[in-house]
Amino acid sequence: MATKNILPPISLVQRKEYTARIREWNDAYAAETGARRGCFVLTFGCQQNEADSEKIAGMAEEMGYEIVASPEEAHLIMVNTCAIREHAEKKALSIIGQYKHIRAKNPELIIGVCGCMTAQEHRRDELKMKYPYVTFTLGTASLHHFPKVLWDTLSLKRRFITSESEEDFTKTVAEGAPIRRVSGYRAWVSIMYGCNNFCSYCIVPYCRGRERSRAKEDIIREVRELVEAGYKEITLLGQNVNSYGKGTDCDFADLVAELDAIEGDWWLSFMTSHPKDASRKLIDVMAAGKHIARRFHLPMQSGSDRVLKVMNRHYNMEKYLDTVTYMREKMPDVVITSDIIVGFPGETEEEFEDTLRALEAVRFDMLYSFIYSPRKGTPAAEMEQIPDVVKGSRFDRLLATQNAIAAEKNKPLEGKLLRVLCDGESKGNPRVYSGRTEGGKIVFFEGAPDMVGGFVNVRIERTEAFALWGKVEK
Ligand code: 5AD
Ligand code: SF4
Repeated sequence: MATKNILPPISLVQRKEYTARIREWNDAYAAETGARRGCFVLTFGCQQNEADSEKIAGMAEEMGYEIVASPEEAHLIMVNTCAIREHAEKKALSIIGQYKHIRAKNPELIIGVCGCMTAQEHRRDELKMKYPYVTFTLGTASLHHFPKVLWDTLSLKRRFITSESEEDFTKTVAEGAPIRRVSGYRAWVSIMYGCNNFCSYCIVPYCRGRERSRAKEDIIREVRELVEAGYKEITLLGQNVNSYGKGTDCDFADLVAELDAIEGDWWLSFMTSHPKDASRKLIDVMAAGKHIARRFHLPMQSGSDRVLKVMNRHYNMEKYLDTVTYMREKMPDVVITSDIIVGFPGETEEEFEDTLRALEAVRFDMLYSFIYSPRKGTPAAEMEQIPDVVKGSRFDRLLATQNAIAAEKNKPLEGKLLRVLCDGESKGNPRVYSGRTEGGKIVFFEGAPDMVGGFVNVRIERTEAFALWGKVEK
């Protein structure tokens, strides 16, 4: 069976106890002033961080805060950081830097920093020394300690810039935190935490700890409740979802098959899959599924076998292409997307061209491409680096190749009637609405407020590399 809730019971009791104390303090403030203390949550990074922020906001609300839309209105600011590339860290640090002025006007303001950045000792030191108004840090594996850390910082009037415990980092699966979902029709559901893969470029295993899976029953209950509440797309999240339940009698394909049996009009999607673990069994479950979106995000990272080896990816291009072929055999309309890193240390021109050739061979619908960013503490950061100009020009060539492919892949959709989950008004033009297909492609159409959060059928009239345009048909 999948991992049980192995969070030591004391932590759960603690969460409730400290939540009640802060709630009382906030209720007294509200009774006195007629307004609630505000909490502002700012999120950087991936969907897992968005999901974590929904828990942070949920817990803050449970503690009696009102979630507010700007840092100026807040008594508590939580910055949920990302460490995947240097740019993401710099952005978060720059915003935290700007909060100095807000704190100067409001000395009672509490600023907490959470997310992947806080797992790195050098970043915690930086926060300690250069950002004295940051009151506490909270690691991704320690979210359930939020009420206690907040209470300690409030009552002891001291800072807690600390690392998380070994137990939280390696074993803890905390259930029961309230979730304040941003959307009323698309929901994230974390199914596992951490990563054991240690790809040589990646900081995530050092920030999010070891792989641990939620119990199957807890996931099924959460998804069922969401479907019953009218959610239309539910995305299962994990750093490597295919590792779900490893060593138990329920693997990821079994979990997906069980979830697919939940009745209703909804889509089930998941991310991210590691190519070394994407099984034929999972593809068969998808092909037979009723609700499972025919979309597969399968990060390839490089098209060169030598680079893949140094990246510690544990597959080669033959295995990757074999998976793609099997997927298309079983689901000819499947949308396949990927991540590529250009300029990995030691990547030669020939190896980069292998990646371009791989793009031509696979023909992804969409690609997320990244310039390699050295991450302190990872093996690749110690290897000989490629000059920035070379990285930049390879990145541009990669985009040009992929843009042409994406445009060609979208062209045959012209004239087709596609089911689209409507998100609402697009930026810039209130009459033009946007939504996404089952494969995650963005579609623009003339819409109306009553379509938001529901499915509409759109006849596609025009396509480009990144978007489709069409008309709603009743
Ligand atoms: N530099 C650039 N891109 C990276 N990714 C992970 N680590 C790095 C890094 N150090 C990319 C990978 C991964 C995606 C989420 O981010 O492509 O799949
Ligand atoms: Fe990073 Fe690799 Fe784990 Fe993905 S599988 S989070 S790229 S270490």
